[in-house]
Amino acid sequence: MNQTGRLSRTTRPRRYELLITPDLDASTFSGEVVVALEMSEPTDTIVLHAKGLDVALVELSQGGAPVAADLRIDAEREYIVITAQQPLLAGDAILELQFDGPISNGLFGFYRSTYLDEAGAERVLAATQFEAAHARCAFPCFDEPEFKAMFAITLVVADGLLALSNGPEIDREKLPDGNVRVRFGTTIPISTYLVAWVVGPLEVTEPVDACGVAVRVAHVPGRGHLTQFALDVGAFAIEFFEDYYGIAYPGEKCDLVALPDFSFGAMENLGCVTFRETRLLLDPDAATLDETTGAALTIVHEIAHMWFGDLVTMKWWNGIWLNEAFATFMQHLGIDAYKPEWKTWDEFALARAAALDVDALENTRTVEYEVVTPQDADGMFDLLTYQKGGSVLRMLERWLGADAFRAGVRHYLSRYQLSNTETTDLWDALEEATGRPVRRIMDTWIFQPGFPTVRVGEGRLEQRRFCYSGAGHDERWVLPVLARIHTGESVETRSLLTDAEVVPLEVPDGSLVVLNAGGEGFYRVAYPTAWRDRLLDAGVLQPLERFALVDDLWASVLAGDATAAEFLECARRFAGETDPVVWRAVVGHLRTASRLVEGEALERMRIEIAAIVKPATKRLGWDGHSDDARTRQLRGLLVNVLGSTTFDPETIARAREIHEHAEGADADVQAAAISVVASNGTADDFERFVARATETTNPQEQMRYLYSLAEFPSEELVLRAADLALSDEIRAQNGPFVIQRALRNREHGAVVWAFVRDSWPRVLARFSPSLIPRVVEGTTWLVEDGLPDDVLKFVAAHPVPSGARTIAQHMERLRVHRAAVERERDRFSAALLQAP
Ligand code: BES
Ligand code: ZN
Repeated sequence: MNQTGRLSRTTRPRRYELLITPDLDASTFSGEVVVALEMSEPTDTIVLHAKGLDVALVELSQGGAPVAADLRIDAEREYIVITAQQPLLAGDAILELQFDGPISNGLFGFYRSTYLDEAGAERVLAATQFEAAHARCAFPCFDEPEFKAMFAITLVVADGLLALSNGPEIDREKLPDGNVRVRFGTTIPISTYLVAWVVGPLEVTEPVDACGVAVRVAHVPGRGHLTQFALDVGAFAIEFFEDYYGIAYPGEKCDLVALPDFSFGAMENLGCVTFRETRLLLDPDAATLDETTGAALTIVHEIAHMWFGDLVTMKWWNGIWLNEAFATFMQHLGIDAYKPEWKTWDEFALARAAALDVDALENTRTVEYEVVTPQDADGMFDLLTYQKGGSVLRMLERWLGADAFRAGVRHYLSRYQLSNTETTDLWDALEEATGRPVRRIMDTWIFQPGFPTVRVGEGRLEQRRFCYSGAGHDERWVLPVLARIHTGESVETRSLLTDAEVVPLEVPDGSLVVLNAGGEGFYRVAYPTAWRDRLLDAGVLQPLERFALVDDLWASVLAGDATAAEFLECARRFAGETDPVVWRAVVGHLRTASRLVEGEALERMRIEIAAIVKPATKRLGWDGHSDDARTRQLRGLLVNVLGSTTFDPETIARAREIHEHAEGADADVQAAAISVVASNGTADDFERFVARATETTNPQEQMRYLYSLAEFPSEELVLRAADLALSDEIRAQNGPFVIQRALRNREHGAVVWAFVRDSWPRVLARFSPSLIPRVVEGTTWLVEDGLPDDVLKFVAAHPVPSGARTIAQHMERLRVHRAAVERERDRFSAALLQAP
């Protein structure tokens, strides 16, 4: 042990033989572990982790001879301490322990999950979720990522249950008591957080071959018809990454396991990847493009980790961001190769925008920061890790060139395979492969909070940190700026790397200059209004550049540098837009802008939005069968806006008809119809939607109905949705998201807030701590007079330790929104009411 609470590096595990015997009925398990240790120095003390386990020492031995020792439990530090009566020599030793523990009711460690079978009876399974530091809840171990070891796992389970773990099944033996002992092949050295097993009444598909790797999908019975998609994407991903990384898949097989209860989206356990059902089981003919890419990106993300994360692993939890940012980058690269027509990098613009949005807060953080306890690492699973981290990697890849970037990644993976790294090891490998100053660039993005806005003026560019608060900050970035200059017919692209505050930019008179050309930089651009209008008029902007222009303008409204009326004026220019991603920015921000006003002005705003959206819906019509997937996605979005934001009677009637009768409508329209019917729905509709959410075996359809419950127009129904979300009717993995949506309900958010506030003990008891911030996230538009103070006071009085930073961000965002309301309410209302 040392001051930071990390285990000593002088005693290391080499191999664990682990036997686990779960009792699903009693919700307990027992286990035995034999750890082969290697000591670089003589010692009489061995410290490892265990939490909530009853542990007994079986034997400590060295050179085949037992060594007398005792075991002490240090529950507070989650340690077990073994003290030998005489020092062990440097070299090998064997530690054998026995333990029992509870199968957890939460979603971490070795935990319990249930589903109802066809007869309506509850069936129980149990699965593991160990990241960041929960392996210690399931077996005594050196629970830090640097202690990689081989795992030989054995499960003793009731006959007839499916048993899976990281390695392939290599032996199965029926025991006299009727149970079955299943042995799995020994893994390569991996960190404890990547160990996994699953036991329960599940089914598994036949394997599909990908470069000699068997890919299977495990699922609850009755969902086999939803597995083909994942098998296809999974096999593609393995082939894609073997080629991209230039290294064979590091596991011996690849099971993709859909669990009915799961805290996150998915988890990259080597060879035994676990998922929430919506992210794995999917009927491609019945899913929207968002649902489809959501699942595909998740599968590819986790498979990308098999190399980046599992084969090469961060030394300590401060490196989690790179692990996740890289997989986020890779999920898009992989899917871009799988289905180029999905334009997943364009879709990524939404993720980048979300990251820019948090990173403009005073409560943002640096991407990488010092992590002392593993709990500090929990604060890393957020937009700044995934979306900002992924965006700056994309910006870097664009800057270096795709081939050069890949060469650096290959160099890094082959050099560090089976071991652990620091963040800088990747930058150094990229520098070696490209000769470019990668570390110098990246340090400014990773170790400084925020990002710059680039202001353009005559003959110069200026970078300054962008903050909603307007506070002065003096950070500078090593900023790769791409500019495109249109002079008459000629087009010139310039790329400059600058860390100066002001840079000259000479351009010929009369030319048009596009900054952040390509739209993939992690910065904003502040154009003078006339310049922006000229770019739009000239039609020289690519989709992601138009997206960035709209998003940057809305951000400057929130910062108080532009007005909402100016934004609306600009949005009107997009009535002829055809790109779905651009539409998402336009529509998303128009919906948000409508939050700034009330009453008659709100009615006007709805008319304005309808006027912008209607021509596009007319062009698209209702029948999507001959359209490509993105056009169908766009239709769904626009139908949704007309039916649930502007309440267009014709759209509402049509949506209801489609919901009741048109089995044939495409998935995007059907999904939009559910939301439109809910937004205009009755108590009867509510009952039917609850029933549909419960009965369907299609995970995506289930989520559509569940989330729509928060959109109903009556206070009573929205409150019922929130109440259901706190009950057993809605799984605890989904409840926080339902409440978040109910809090966002335009009409009834305030009442839902009062309910949530008064039910806080129920909220805390029902949801895992990591999901509490999701509830609070719903409050950021509770801007009515007096409400922000109530929220801020309550949240300050009820701190949530696992999400302090994220919650501070939500609260700051609420203040930013309230300030925007105060600035805009009168003047934007006046502008709307004056409009012809
Ligand atoms: N390793 C993470 C899952 C995780 C998150 C474990 C937080 C422990 C704490 C996994 O690779 C991941 O990133 N999952 C994402 C899905 C992905 C598509 C962004 C998730 O769960 O949201
Ligand atoms: Zn990940």
